[in-house]
Amino acid sequence: MKFFVDTADVAEIRALADLGLVDGVTTNPSLIAKSGRKIAEVIAEICTITPGPVSAEVTATDFEGMMAEGKYLRDIASNVAVKVPLTEAGLKTCRALSSEGTQVNVTLCFSAAQALLAAKAGATFISPFVGRLDDIGHDGMQLISDVVTIYNNYPAITTEVLVASVRHPIHLIEAAKMGAHVATLPANVIKMLVKHPLTDRGLEAFLADWAKTGQSIL
Ligand code: E4P
Repeated sequence: MKFFVDTADVAEIRALADLGLVDGVTTNPSLIAKSGRKIAEVIAEICTITPGPVSAEVTATDFEGMMAEGKYLRDIASNVAVKVPLTEAGLKTCRALSSEGTQVNVTLCFSAAQALLAAKAGATFISPFVGRLDDIGHDGMQLISDVVTIYNNYPAITTEVLVASVRHPIHLIEAAKMGAHVATLPANVIKMLVKHPLTDRGLEAFLADWAKTGQSIL
């Protein structure tokens, strides 16, 4: 399973890349706003940190505008994946950019029907938002299960399921069990994955016993 990092904070991305945990990056307009930087500048810098796909989202809502913005964003670096919302104009843009060889991430997916449409439009990635569905009392992980099942029924579909709006490690583990291709994770969730109280307690006990031996390995 590939791990993308869901942030536009280059310091966070660099730290996680040093751990070997970054297969790609996703951003959205809210994350770019939080970074306080110009979109072209921050996307260009992120693209130098990872060779994996870096999603940069259009903000136009009409086809012509999305196409113009998508072409501008894809020219920033060869590993940019243009992110478009799951609207009629977004699907049309997805089809057009994909047919030109551009990677496209179709975002704001909240139903299996929408995911099927994105695959038909040639999306490289479909981003179903699990956390936001949970927030309104729906079952986000059921959507991932449905999309993975549907895509697996049609071997011609090459669109990868990119689990988005991940809030905690259980989302990730359930998605991995279902066979989702990618999860995009905020840095705090990646940190949660590392930690286990028994690891901390076990290490403490090993080091205490080791100290009693008076030895040092080097
Ligand atoms: C990723 O592509 C999405 O923009 C992101 O995961 C949304 O997460 P949120 O629901 O926590 O804002």
